[in-house]
Amino acid sequence: MTDSEKLELLIDFEKTVARERDLDTLLWKMADFARDIVNADRCSIYIYDEKRDELWTKVAHEVERIRIPASKGVAGYTALSKEIQIVVDAYDDFRFNPDIDRATGYLTQTLLSIPLVDHNDRTIGVFQAINKKEGIFTLEDAELMLFMSNYASATLENAILNERLRKNQLKLIDKLSNAAEFKDVETSNHTKRVGEIAALLAHHTGLPEEEVEQIRATAPMHDIGKIGISDDILLKAGPLTPEEFETIKRHTLIGYDLLRDEEEEILHLAATIALEHHEHFDGSGYPYGKRGSCISLEGRIVAIADVFDALSSARPYKRPWSLDEAFDYVEKHAGSHFDPDLVAIFLNHRDEIEAIKNRFKDTEF
Ligand code: C2E
Ligand code: SIN
Ligand code: SIN
Ligand code: SIN
Ligand code: FE
Ligand code: FE
Repeated sequence: MTDSEKLELLIDFEKTVARERDLDTLLWKMADFARDIVNADRCSIYIYDEKRDELWTKVAHEVERIRIPASKGVAGYTALSKEIQIVVDAYDDFRFNPDIDRATGYLTQTLLSIPLVDHNDRTIGVFQAINKKEGIFTLEDAELMLFMSNYASATLENAILNERLRKNQLKLIDKLSNAAEFKDVETSNHTKRVGEIAALLAHHTGLPEEEVEQIRATAPMHDIGKIGISDDILLKAGPLTPEEFETIKRHTLIGYDLLRDEEEEILHLAATIALEHHEHFDGSGYPYGKRGSCISLEGRIVAIADVFDALSSARPYKRPWSLDEAFDYVEKHAGSHFDPDLVAIFLNHRDEIEAIKNRFKDTEF
């Protein structure tokens, strides 16, 4: 690659980084650009996990996720020293940790390893290029990768913080969902099971993994609007009067208003699910009587997961049904309450659904 080609690539990289907010995408782009610019066979980016004192490969060309102790290998050496490490013959180098090669069946020969540090000069990770295609990594290669890591570090730091924040938010909302639906955080795994069953359906529907994960995270919030419904109604031991049922129907709209957010895509999905999880495929549901594919796919998915799990669980107003009865109910209501294509997928994966029921049991009380 000529110098002007490298410069072009760097400018391209700057533009890309400036626009990127998502951590995974950002890291993949860094890895791709770096591989091309220093002419390496592959690149890995490790993120430092302070709590466990480990480095783990967040992205790596052709390698599964790997965790290593932060003190091990060239990666560990880089993280601790916060200095560039160049290795010209890995298997003859005391810094090198062959565990990763052993796990992947790859043969590392040359390595260029760059520390990723935040604005407080704390290690956030390690950026590595592996196996230069010709010769060994040079100081110029090191400078190029250092430039990239310095340039990306603020964005990277932000993206890492954002990701952590989002995870914490989801955890918080998960706890709130449970409290809203049951007024008791300890006893029920219903919200978790709905998340898992919905994710299973999403997966077998063929949605991309990223969307499957978003559904796993947001489906548990479907009933968060029940926080706005009085306990007298929610915890009533017997059947509801028509007026009480009208009141309870509002939990869909309340949930939608609570979760609606213009900027956060994941909250937008959560809001849609809260709004639509009681719509019926034939248009007889609430709050709007939407029909068929006018109901979002996620709404149709969660409808099945929620009803199946509500039927097979104890509620203040009913005994749990047997799994057979709950599966039969879903089957019988294909096309009326539920999307028939999704019901077919649901029934095809009965074993996996039973496994979820077993894994996330409710505590006896
Ligand atoms: P939920 O307990 O989470 O139930 C969710 C959905 O599961 C229900 O939506 C319904 O479609 C299905 N489901 C649950 N139990 C049964 C059942 O015994 N038979 C049948 N056929 N379906 C069942 P739905 O009906 O729109 O109810 C929404 C929410 O209203 C329920 O959420 C629950 O919080 C409340 N609710 C519904 N019926 C009663 C009741 O008889 N007594 C009390 N206290 N609350 C009720
Ligand atoms: C190391 O950091 O020592 C090993 C890196 C690798 O082989 O990918
Ligand atoms: C599968 O992923 O198992 C195929 C989808 C289906 O069950 O219809
Ligand atoms: C409830 O707390 O109302 C029922 C909890 C359960 O599903 O076990
Ligand atoms: Fe609901
Ligand atoms: Fe529910």
